[in-house]
Amino acid sequence: MCSFLVLFILIATSVCEGQHDKTCNVVPKDQYIEVGSDAEIVCQSSCVRGKIFWTLNNVPMDTSLSNTINSSHTVLSLRNFTHRSATLQCHSVDTQQVLGGTTIRTYSKPSKISCIWEYINQDMGKGVPEILTCSWEHQMNSSMKINYTVLSVPSLSEICSSHVKTCIFTDTAGKIPFVVNTTVIVRAKTAAWEVNSDPQTFYPYHILKITPPKLNITALSNALLVEWTRSSIKKSEKCHCEVRYNKWVLRKTLDPEPISTIIIEKLEPCTNYKISVRCALDHAPWSDWSQEKTVLTKLNKSDVKLRLWRQVAKPDKNGVRQVRTMWTEIPSTCQGTFTHIVKQTSYKEHMRGVNYADILCGNSTCVVDVNQDAHRLNLTVFHNEALLAEDSVYVPAIGESLPQVTDMQTSTLDGVILVSWKAPVQPVSGYMIDWTHNGNQYYWKESKYTNITLFDLLYKKPYNITVTPLFDDKTGHGTEALQICSRMEDPGNVTIIDVQTKDKSALVRWNMKSQEECSGVVVNYTIFYMTQNGPQLNVTVDHTKREITLKDLNPKTQYSVYVEAIALTGTTKSSERHFNTKKFDPMLITALSVCGSIVIVLVLSLGLCCAVQWKKFKEKPVPNPGLSSVALWPSASHQKGTSSFQPFSNPSESLCERVYMEDDQRTSTPPLAIGCDPHLNPASDQKEEYADPAIIPAADIQNERPVEPVETLCPSPGESTALLSSDNSPLTPYRSQSSVEAPAPRTSKQCKPLLPEKQQEKTVTVYVTLDMFEQGQGR
Ligand SMILES: *[C@@H]1O[C@H](CO)[C@@H](O)[C@H](O)[C@H]1NC(C)=O
Ligand SMILES: *[C@@H]1O[C@H](CO)[C@@H](O)[C@H](O)[C@H]1NC(C)=O
Ligand SMILES: *[C@@H]1O[C@H](CO)[C@@H](O)[C@H](O)[C@H]1NC(C)=O
Ligand SMILES: *[C@@H]1O[C@H](CO)[C@@H](O)[C@H](O)[C@H]1NC(C)=O
Ligand SMILES: *[C@@H]1O[C@H](CO)[C@@H](O)[C@H](O)[C@H]1NC(C)=O
Ligand SMILES: *[C@@H]1O[C@H](CO)[C@@H](O)[C@H](O)[C@H]1NC(C)=O
Ligand SMILES: *[C@@H]1O[C@H](CO)[C@@H](O)[C@H](O)[C@H]1NC(C)=O
Ligand SMILES: *[C@@H]1O[C@H](CO)[C@@H](O)[C@H](O)[C@H]1NC(C)=O
Ligand SMILES: *[C@@H]1O[C@H](CO)[C@@H](O)[C@H](O)[C@H]1NC(C)=O
Repeated sequence: MCSFLVLFILIATSVCEGQHDKTCNVVPKDQYIEVGSDAEIVCQSSCVRGKIFWTLNNVPMDTSLSNTINSSHTVLSLRNFTHRSATLQCHSVDTQQVLGGTTIRTYSKPSKISCIWEYINQDMGKGVPEILTCSWEHQMNSSMKINYTVLSVPSLSEICSSHVKTCIFTDTAGKIPFVVNTTVIVRAKTAAWEVNSDPQTFYPYHILKITPPKLNITALSNALLVEWTRSSIKKSEKCHCEVRYNKWVLRKTLDPEPISTIIIEKLEPCTNYKISVRCALDHAPWSDWSQEKTVLTKLNKSDVKLRLWRQVAKPDKNGVRQVRTMWTEIPSTCQGTFTHIVKQTSYKEHMRGVNYADILCGNSTCVVDVNQDAHRLNLTVFHNEALLAEDSVYVPAIGESLPQVTDMQTSTLDGVILVSWKAPVQPVSGYMIDWTHNGNQYYWKESKYTNITLFDLLYKKPYNITVTPLFDDKTGHGTEALQICSRMEDPGNVTIIDVQTKDKSALVRWNMKSQEECSGVVVNYTIFYMTQNGPQLNVTVDHTKREITLKDLNPKTQYSVYVEAIALTGTTKSSERHFNTKKFDPMLITALSVCGSIVIVLVLSLGLCCAVQWKKFKEKPVPNPGLSSVALWPSASHQKGTSSFQPFSNPSESLCERVYMEDDQRTSTPPLAIGCDPHLNPASDQKEEYADPAIIPAADIQNERPVEPVETLCPSPGESTALLSSDNSPLTPYRSQSSVEAPAPRTSKQCKPLLPEKQQEKTVTVYVTLDMFEQGQGR
């Protein structure tokens, strides 16, 4: 028992030892190290025999970094480790099995610490500043919560703390002595690690942001006098200041003086300038900008560069020309009253001494009537009744021999117009180019060269451009270029006005809105159409067309269509229009409905006739052949009213033995009309044969039956009776009888005069078929 226990303990011990020996692991786990520092990791590989190797983020590592201590321990030495985050694993070389792993993450320390002293009340700016604001940079890769603390060195007392990379210390109690250098560190702390920045020392006046200066501005004629008072801190030291006016900045380093001035020159007259100033002590940050002040510059006479120009219109029948004068405008922002006066003088000898009245003009243009002689126009501008500027321009006489440019060429390119011309033979000093799009507003520009580019043109407007050469103080004759558009673009608006559909085609009509001045000229139209999912089809027609029939469409399908007007300079599209093709051709439907109504009318009238006849028939029923008995035809003498009866010499030729159809009376004249009314039109031979239910006139063969009204019968009853009676057939005439038909009333009318009243009483309707006759005649 005891030995058993000892054995058990031994086994257990050995098992435990074996297990301990066979442990595999990598330590330490989940390390944080400062970026760029070194680290060592141990791989315990007791569970396997043989060598091991390392991987970093699954990439095998250089074996030189690995150091085998003994059979079960290998140390990996990492130098200057900069990976943000890395997974290191230890593998067995023999089995490739992962024996263990760990992660290493790095952190960095806060850097680039800067602190600024400033005043809470920017207007005061005296004594010790109240606020110390520090900020720094810190690379933080994880989303871990972090606490920053700014510590004063060497006491390591906390100045301020924050979770972001800046913090503000409000030193109302004067905790930090302002006059001596201050050293700080920033400590970054997370749950896993803590790191201090390098210490940073500040000289207080190098981190002092002074209060903005106080500003005073005076407007001079074309300049501004800017005056400011800087902060009184460190007034014995130099100071840098910046003056900002509109977009420009002037920089000035000031001597140790509290008040500084600067004159900003060459400014635009009558223009508002916004001015502000900021200053900084040497090495120190800039103060905030002072409050912005707006000043309007004044107009200085020396700034006014008056330039007068004119546009001479064609003379009227009296030789009087309208001359539109134009000049460089004085900005409307200028204060004061401006008066423009135009004076004209004639160059013609005998006109000398003639006084033209002065013309009081508007601010930018004036129209003067000038006769055919050469003139000079003078413009005088007064500012608050004081002479401000003067200029004059020459208007040549009609037909005066003067230089003139030739061969003017214009072209448009991306909204600008290029103009070029040939210089006149006479020497000229330059050219004046004026242009207008409406005759009211003129623009003008001088060029030294024989070309010019006109910018800032209105969109899609036709321009009239004139070039006039200049020489001495005179001008030559102007030459006008052909009107040119600033931009030629797409043609006007195209609109689909109507779509008429059939089953397989559609007529599309469109119109083109009256084209604007500078619209492109349509060369042709393309009509695009498609079903909802089908391919887009197109047809192109020339510019004269305004409609098209789209063919080969699918019936009962929705189509969309639009028209594109194509000009050489662009295209315009109409809006899209949808239409549905019809299920059937509307013509077919019309035809069908017309036929249908005809058929209906026919059927109705037929039905009406039938009804009428049926009614009559009902009143006078047809004898039932089943009730009759076969007997020999009675002899002629037995019949009543046979006195008028005359047998035909050739009965087979007789018209009246033919069978009449209802419609057949119109066809042709009968081949024989013996004994019949010549007005009566018998049926044609062909039609006769198809007539099955037919009517022939006949004598009353069964005397007991009432007599049918005569109106319905055509030939004389006696003739039919003769036919029937001449055939002594034992067969009953009813054997194929099928129906009763009433002859047309017209027939009865035509026939009526033929029949004496006595005979009419004796006529009767007999139902026969063709084959019945054939049989009878064949005999
Ligand atoms: C191997 O070295 C480690 C560390 O030096 C030690 O703890 C361990 O006992 C050694 N193992 C053997 C089997 O020598
Ligand atoms: C950060 O500071 C707050 C108090 O401001 C504290 O409660 C928290 O534990 C700190 N966190 C760390 C990681 O030091
Ligand atoms: C304070 O710092 C400035 C520059 O940072 C240095 O020139 C000066 O000697 C320092 N003063 C003291 C008292 O350390
Ligand atoms: C106009 O400007 C000129 C020079 O630019 C200057 O000499 C003159 O004094 C100015 N006139 C006025 C009224 O300010
Ligand atoms: C001329 O300009 C002044 C302002 O400079 C303005 O008051 C006046 O109405 C203008 N006159 C005309 C005719 O436009
Ligand atoms: C521009 O020139 C055209 C002829 O090219 C003329 O018909 C039109 O009247 C002119 N327009 C103006 C404003 O001068
Ligand atoms: C205009 O003329 C000048 C001088 O002849 C030349 O240098 C320039 O290229 C010309 N510009 C155009 C657009 O033709
Ligand atoms: C018009 O259709 C034809 C094919 O029918 C195609 O080749 C052509 O590109 C189309 N035109 C346009 C402008 O889409
Ligand atoms: C459309 O206009 C262009 C340009 O004028 C021409 O070349 C082309 O033949 C025209 N197409 C049709 C189908 O008329």
